[in-house]
Amino acid sequence: DAGDPAKGEKEFNKCKACHMVQAPDGTDIVKGGKTGPNLYGVVGRKAGAAEGFKFSDALIKLGEAGEIWTPEDLEHYITDPNSYVEEKTGEGKLKTKMTFKLRKGQADVVAFLAAHSPD
Ligand code: HEM
Repeated sequence: DAGDPAKGEKEFNKCKACHMVQAPDGTDIVKGGKTGPNLYGVVGRKAGAAEGFKFSDALIKLGEAGEIWTPEDLEHYITDPNSYVEEKTGEGKLKTKMTFKLRKGQADVVAFLAAHSPD
């Protein structure tokens, strides 16, 4: 269901230790850490494909299997990244490098990311 991007922007405080949201022209929408990939444009992007980031085999395989991040998929992924990868690939031994799980407000965070994902 549709989330609230303004709430999602606040909720993104939980993400920014590891993720920035930075437009291709260098504009910082959210200044954040570099432990995880830049999340600008993630909605509609292939999984494990953000430029300049060294992804786990898990995320690379997800992308190779055809995963293009939809809002619904992202809500599931951020709720429990490893379970999501296992469900999608059928391989429980593939572990993502993201250990964080968001337990509420997923749709809001995804609505915020969608607002910064031009097509
Ligand atoms: C990957 C979202 C919190 C570390 C990802 C991806 C998404 C995402 C969508 C996949 C990106 C892609 O395929 O291009 C979020 C959101 C968060 C959050 C919305 C907050 C609710 C965190 C936190 C950390 C983290 C707190 C660090 C403690 C990572 C890492 C990856 C990743 C290392 C790469 C995973 C891999 O290569 O297996 N995140 N994340 N994330 N995230 Fe997060």
